[in-house]
Amino acid sequence: MTITLQIDGKEVKATKGMTVLESAREAGIEIPTLCYHEKLEPYGVCRICSVEVEKKGKTRIVASCGFPVEQGLVVRTRSPRIDKIRKVIIELVAPTTMIDGEVAGEIKKIGNEYGADIHRFESRFRAKPTRCILCGQCVRYCDEVVGEHAIGFMGRGIDRRVAFFPEKARACLTCQACFNLCPTGKIPSETDFVVFDGFSVDDYLAGEL
Ligand code: FES
Repeated sequence: MTITLQIDGKEVKATKGMTVLESAREAGIEIPTLCYHEKLEPYGVCRICSVEVEKKGKTRIVASCGFPVEQGLVVRTRSPRIDKIRKVIIELVAPTTMIDGEVAGEIKKIGNEYGADIHRFESRFRAKPTRCILCGQCVRYCDEVVGEHAIGFMGRGIDRRVAFFPEKARACLTCQACFNLCPTGKIPSETDFVVFDGFSVDDYLAGEL
């Protein structure tokens, strides 16, 4: 079933079941993402893909990666409100992804585009920078696409992190499908990425775990 909606003033045709993000991208309209991957179920945790949707005169902010298209929906992917949301999200995740006062990967790219001050919340950041924003792309890709379940979340709260499971190390030696997904560039460039205390990705890839 074909649905007609409006995105940034442009009439867009979409298929029922598509998300706003998918239909925007199909129409050549870019929306930034951090936790989204086209092969994975929407996760909806980073909110960088937030857009304004308007229906029957009511406007609200939704995560476009999980919001389904609707007939007659009016979508704005850029507005002062949306730009501010994206700017603040980058400012909030920047301290954990910073190395030597710089951020990398998608964080840097989006931060530059939205004029984020990456040092804004640095003094209030209490946890050890892990360079991981817990977007879960690596974990979910391994589960949903590769089917190995070789990497997962461990811990809670500020101690929550991603860990490789040693008993699956052999599968990762030949796979490494998650290596190019990381929006902060943590995997695999950071060699002290903790598998379990005292072990690193290098140990892991050398098959020593
Ligand atoms: S990309 Fe939509 S919430 Fe992360």
